[in-house]
Amino acid sequence: MRIFSGIQPTGRKHLGNYLGAIRQYVDGQQRAGEQGGLAIFCIVDLHAITVAYDPAELRERTYDTAALLIAAGLDPERCVLFRQSDVPEQTELCWLLSSVTAHGDLNRMHQFKEKSEVQRELISAGLFFYPVLQAADVLAYRCDEVPVGEDQRQHIETMRDIAERFNARFADRGEILVTPEHRIPEVGARIMDLQDPDSKMSTTAASEEGTIYLLDEPETIKRKLNRAVTDSDDPPVIAFDPDKRGVSNLLDILAACKAISPDEAAAELAAARGYGDLKAAVSDAVIEMLTPVRERYEQLRGDETALEQILLRGAEQAREIAAVTLTEVRGAMGVGPVV
Ligand code: TRP
Repeated sequence: MRIFSGIQPTGRKHLGNYLGAIRQYVDGQQRAGEQGGLAIFCIVDLHAITVAYDPAELRERTYDTAALLIAAGLDPERCVLFRQSDVPEQTELCWLLSSVTAHGDLNRMHQFKEKSEVQRELISAGLFFYPVLQAADVLAYRCDEVPVGEDQRQHIETMRDIAERFNARFADRGEILVTPEHRIPEVGARIMDLQDPDSKMSTTAASEEGTIYLLDEPETIKRKLNRAVTDSDDPPVIAFDPDKRGVSNLLDILAACKAISPDEAAAELAAARGYGDLKAAVSDAVIEMLTPVRERYEQLRGDETALEQILLRGAEQAREIAAVTLTEVRGAMGVGPVV
């Protein structure tokens, strides 16, 4: 079994990223290890340049992300962790796959529409092409599973279409590219903003107060959860219910932290006197989960030379795999000499 995923080196990572994606990576590393498979994780700096950005900051964020992933439990001895731009095979594959990508499919991407609406100066062609590079990321490694958040569903579908179109067009016998499944977690896939439980928790949210960052200090986490929007039910009702957005979100977070279901989380709070007790329980669980991550992060982030070595070693391993795929793809497409 082989798992691949990519993560943007942008923004500060928040609880939604952790529960929706990063924790799935650690889990994937574990499962792959048990089954003699491989888990591969790519920090996608080349995707980050498709919107306005600052070059020096991109490099910083790449180290931040590497340190955070390791702090969260990715072990470079047990998985492949690398930076996208260190593997030119992926960018070449992106171009080759563009010939089996439908322009109309790219035109339908929600994420392109959303991101292009907020660009002030330039909507880059790279932003439009983003899903092709993402397809190349995945397909270079012939993996079976792609753990991603709910927001990546459409990109993953496109990647699958690209692989199928490539095989139909160029693979005479069987398949050259492997078409993997996505793996979207049920619990924790949609962590909502604490101040506005109708929108997803995100780095671009209007208020900082609605977003718990992974590196927030315990007091900050407590304060944000204390101020979380609930509802005015009197007496308060701690139950998972689509009409109770704020309370359900808190139960979702509690459940995800403790690896139980939201209904079980509600049952544990049967004796609670009010929303204050719910908030305190969530706060304790979040702090307990994030404190070791923050502490390890601070240790790792200080040594950029060590992080750089980890990334370069990961890239060597990644290139070995990607080069094999690329040779077959080039051969099937009639690109370059016969090998
Ligand atoms: N687009 C993904 C995101 O924003 C990141 C990504 C890039 C990715 N390449 C990938 C995810 C390949 C999975 C597989 O989250």
